[in-house]
Amino acid sequence: MNKGALIRKFNKQAAMYERNSRQRYIGRWRQRLLQDVSGQVLEVAVGAGANLPFYQRDKVELTAVDFSPEMLSRARQFAVELGIHATFLEHDIETLELPERSFDCVVSTLSLCGYEDPLEALRRMNRWAKPGGRVYLLEHGVSANRLIGLAQHLANPAARRISGCHFNRDILRIVKDSPLKVLRSERYWNGIVHLIWAHAT
Ligand SMILES: C[S@@+](CC[C@H](N)C(=O)[O-])C[C@H]1O[C@@H](n2cnc3c(N)ncnc32)[C@H](O)[C@@H]1O
Repeated sequence: MNKGALIRKFNKQAAMYERNSRQRYIGRWRQRLLQDVSGQVLEVAVGAGANLPFYQRDKVELTAVDFSPEMLSRARQFAVELGIHATFLEHDIETLELPERSFDCVVSTLSLCGYEDPLEALRRMNRWAKPGGRVYLLEHGVSANRLIGLAQHLANPAARRISGCHFNRDILRIVKDSPLKVLRSERYWNGIVHLIWAHAT
C-alpha cells in the first residue's frame, strides 16, 4: 500500500483513536509501561495521544511524530488540555531525520504493526536515543497460541487493507534482531500483546 493511501486510512480512524485515547483504552498497560518515562522524550507514531495521560507532565519534554495530520491535530489538542509540554512533527517515521543520540527515552505503542520495515524503524529509534537511553514498546503481534497465530496469518492481508496494521508480526524476534538491548518483556492476550523495556546501544 502506498504511503498516501495509508495516511488517508489513518486519517479516517482519527476520531476513533481520539475516543479511545480519552477513554484510556488499554490504560493499565500504558500506565505500567510508561510510569518512569522522563526527560527529552521522543514518541513515534503518537496517534491521537493515547499515551499523553500517562506522562508525568513536570518530568517530560515531548517530541511526538505521526504522518497523519488528523491524528496529530487531536494529539496536539489533548496535550494542551493535559498541560504536557510537547512539539508535534508531521512526518513519516521511515524517512524522518532527527539528531542522533538526542533523546533520553523513546516510546512506541502500537506502531511496529504499521511500518513497511519494522526492524529498520527500531534501528532508527536506537539511533535517536542517547546511548543507554530507554526505549519503551507496547506492541501487538502474532500470538504464542498456534491456532490463533494461524488465524492471524490468514486474516493479515484483510487486516492490512482495512486497518493499515499487520496482525502477524513476530514482535519479540524483530526487537531481538534490532540493536536494542531488551531488559524486560511481558506478554498478554495469548501472547499477542507485548510490553518491552529496552536500552539503546
Ligand atoms: C495503531 S495507531 C497507534 C497510535 C498510538 N501510538 C496509540 O498507541 O494509540 C498507529 C499510528 O501510527 C501512525 N503511523 C503508521 N505508520 C507511520 C509512519 N510510517 N510514520 C508515521 N506515523 C505512522 C498512524 O498514523 C497512527 O497514528
